[in-house]
Amino acid sequence: MHYINHENNQRLIPRNLSHLPTMSTPSLIPFFLLTFILGLASSTPSTAAAAATATTKPAPLVFPLKKDAATNQYYTTLQLGTPPTAMNAVLDLAGEYTWLDCSSYRSSSYRPVHCNSSRCEAAGSLSCNGCYGPAKPGCTNDTCGVYAANPFLNVLPGSGLAEDVLVLHSTDGIKYKSTSKYQRFAFSCVDDGLNGTTEGLAKSTKGIVALARNPASLPTELSTQLNLPRIFALCLPSSSSGAGHGDLYVGGGPYTRPPIKQDLAKSLLRTQLLVNPVKRAPVYSEGEASDEYFIDVTTIKVDFAPISFKSSILTIDKNGVGGTKIATLTPYTVLHSAIFRPLVNEFIKKAMDRKIKKAAPVAPFGACFDAKTVKSGAAGPHVPTIVLVLRSGVQWRMEGANSMARVSKDVMCLGFVDGGSKLRTSIVIGAHQMEDNLVEFDVGSSTFGFSNSLLLQNSSCSSRS
Ligand SMILES: *[C@@H]1O[C@H](CO)[C@@H](O)[C@H](O)[C@H]1NC(C)=O
Ligand SMILES: *[C@@H]1O[C@H](CO)[C@@H](O)[C@H](O)[C@H]1NC(C)=O
Ligand SMILES: *[C@@H]1O[C@H](CO)[C@@H](O)[C@H](O)[C@H]1NC(C)=O
Ligand SMILES: *[C@@H]1O[C@H](CO)[C@@H](O)[C@H](O)[C@H]1NC(C)=O
Repeated sequence: MHYINHENNQRLIPRNLSHLPTMSTPSLIPFFLLTFILGLASSTPSTAAAAATATTKPAPLVFPLKKDAATNQYYTTLQLGTPPTAMNAVLDLAGEYTWLDCSSYRSSSYRPVHCNSSRCEAAGSLSCNGCYGPAKPGCTNDTCGVYAANPFLNVLPGSGLAEDVLVLHSTDGIKYKSTSKYQRFAFSCVDDGLNGTTEGLAKSTKGIVALARNPASLPTELSTQLNLPRIFALCLPSSSSGAGHGDLYVGGGPYTRPPIKQDLAKSLLRTQLLVNPVKRAPVYSEGEASDEYFIDVTTIKVDFAPISFKSSILTIDKNGVGGTKIATLTPYTVLHSAIFRPLVNEFIKKAMDRKIKKAAPVAPFGACFDAKTVKSGAAGPHVPTIVLVLRSGVQWRMEGANSMARVSKDVMCLGFVDGGSKLRTSIVIGAHQMEDNLVEFDVGSSTFGFSNSLLLQNSSCSSRS
């Protein structure tokens, strides 16, 4: 039995996907018409498995990251197909399958992944898809069925897995260097017949780059297929203007951010990466573990003062409720009300001690201040520091650049949002709080590493190369 859950409205619909013999059209398909299930699997076993190697062995890999000002989403550019087409796609740490709107995609090297192939099985496919022609990327028969989850929509476009050539860049730690080609990058092509598959995503983008722990996500796939360590890292840029860009690293360090001379991989603070035993989104079966990234926040401090609240909500219970996860599609950290209220109160108190004046709150934030009364420092507005103390005692320190959100010329607000008292995950660390920090997800050894604000070291996540 599989379930489909839309976290936004908490709708939960059980559905046995293996009893859905409907033919899909090449379009946006409400999940209840999800896929066309072929009774028989392909009679042609995949021959592609033999060609599973890249032309050169790249390590580590880098992809450029940009910030979209209108949505506060972060996206990268994939150069896919023959000849290569540049496609922008939004990063999603909870994303399981990379997908792209392929309505205008043309490539001579595009190949559907067949249903009865090891690749399809490894991807955790739920169905075998067919399509009434004409045949083109996103519309083929005997195609490994996955779902293209758009977190902003209450529909899951039924979609088939495909492979195509992906251009890879490696780095010497500073500059983007040699390029190579990976022949079998798996992604899912959505033919957007109804316009709207990409609703909610940054305008210049055509889909999602999946970063979850799932076997089919981009870092898992590249690490597995290219024999790289199962490590990826994000350096999210704070600026959406200018020529600079941030970086997604796949395969581990070195991480060099000029003018810092030493490799940041050697100085990251590290804590355990946790697995939430209960998966709830977007499609799951009973007993399946979450493939999102959880860490253990043990205490929250404002400057040196711990705030007090019922600390049991910081642990993940047997139903998967509670705890702390990290999300790139959440613009500002969302907190359970039981944490949000005392945090805001303590922050206001400490801000007043610094002679910072309050201003009227601006939604969705709870505490706002007169910007003229806030001094500025190396790491943004000079305000009380919010400190997340993590298991093993390391401290993730959020300075003004990460804690404050500018809402107008005259007003800045504490950039944390009240998620109410029914929030499933008590702390969802959002992207604004990770900007200009290097954060590393070492899935192989289950550790999460972070640099704290690079601005304090006169560096940032906006490379100029
Ligand atoms: C699927 O492929 C395997 C070999 O890869 C073969 O043994 C099996 O019979 C195939 N199943 C079907 C239903 O075609
Ligand atoms: C898939 O198979 C069906 C039934 O044989 C056929 O009508 C359809 O045209 C095929 N689709 C493609 C894209 O070849
Ligand atoms: C989709 O959008 C394109 C361009 O905006 C438009 O030409 C086309 O008619 C739209 N299709 C549908 C089905 O709305
Ligand atoms: C910070 O770096 C820039 C160049 O990246 C340099 O011009 C400036 O002098 C540096 N400032 C400090 C305080 O080190």
